[in-house]
Amino acid sequence: MTEKFAVRSALSTTPAYIPGKPPQAVEGIESYKLSSNENHLPPLPGLTDVIAAAATTPALYADPAVSALTAELAAHLDRPAEMILFSAGASEMISALANITLEAGTEVVYPWPSFEMYPQIASLRGATHRRIGLTEDFRHDLDAMADAITDSTRLVFLCSPNNPTGSAIRTDEFEQFMARVPQHVIVVLDEAYREFCTDPEAVDGLTALDAHPNLVLVRTFSKAHGLAGLRIGYAVADPEIILELRKAVLPFAVTAVAQAAARESLSRVSEVEVRAKEIAATRDELIAGLREQGWDVPDSHGNYVWLPLDAKSADFEQACLAAGIAVRNLQDGVRISIGPDASMRRVVDIAAEFRARYH
Ligand SMILES: Cc1ncc(COP(=O)(O)O)c(C=O)c1O
Repeated sequence: MTEKFAVRSALSTTPAYIPGKPPQAVEGIESYKLSSNENHLPPLPGLTDVIAAAATTPALYADPAVSALTAELAAHLDRPAEMILFSAGASEMISALANITLEAGTEVVYPWPSFEMYPQIASLRGATHRRIGLTEDFRHDLDAMADAITDSTRLVFLCSPNNPTGSAIRTDEFEQFMARVPQHVIVVLDEAYREFCTDPEAVDGLTALDAHPNLVLVRTFSKAHGLAGLRIGYAVADPEIILELRKAVLPFAVTAVAQAAARESLSRVSEVEVRAKEIAATRDELIAGLREQGWDVPDSHGNYVWLPLDAKSADFEQACLAAGIAVRNLQDGVRISIGPDASMRRVVDIAAEFRARYH
């Protein structure tokens, strides 16, 4: 907390977001950044041409209503455009959701470990955290989350597939949970990694939305669509919630380049889905390779794998860094993003050596 400048007191307990580290250069080998859950595949063929063509008028503001893309997404989702709002990545939407619900004296319920932005924005808004640990098999403890809801609860975060553990919420457990949530409490279903999910029982946010007007889906073009650097995501929700969110997103935050790239990618969504499933297959191979060595790795439905290393997390991160690979050390464990095959083979080798040293 600065004593020099007049900032809000909530900042004294708010950590800054810690992004994934870059890899260290190691002589003679290629380095890989597996610390930010980026899509490692090259852009869709022709996509960079679309981006270049959209970048010829940088002096102009983009369409603030994101009209064309909103109409196209509405048609794709078969929902009215009034239910859709774009933002500069899902991150901006998560921030906007906190801004429309949280303040001192209110409470937010979220799972942990999960996406680090949830506690960050809760702290920034001065809200009380109800942080609910995952179950032993790294799933949302939805009973405990429902128990944690009080008269002061304004917001609940669910993350499926969960970052960093990869577990997906099943439809039956989701429905049981929603039946216990008061209808005025906004529940966010963060589906940032939905395209990588291969669990047939996983809840489908869009279907769930029809039965639950207090549900807000948060989605992004950063992960499966591979547009993280362009910053574009969106919410799907009841038009009344969308109206409130409109007040909380920044005007002109979604650039013309991001809109054009997202339109192109959406128009070729079947190609995106095929690529997402390729990444999912690599993920499952990595999990199988690690399990063969004896690691206790939970099933993952994201483009990453979770190693619950607890106190050994920092040592594993160091072992990876020394071998030219950056992973994400989240203290309870290490998250490894899916990368090119060569990087996955190296991770398996590092993991084998690490086990030999520790077991
Ligand atoms: C669970 C989850 N939600 C949302 C986001 C935000 O994504 P973006 O702001 O790039 O759309 C991330 C990014 O890593 C994430 O892991």
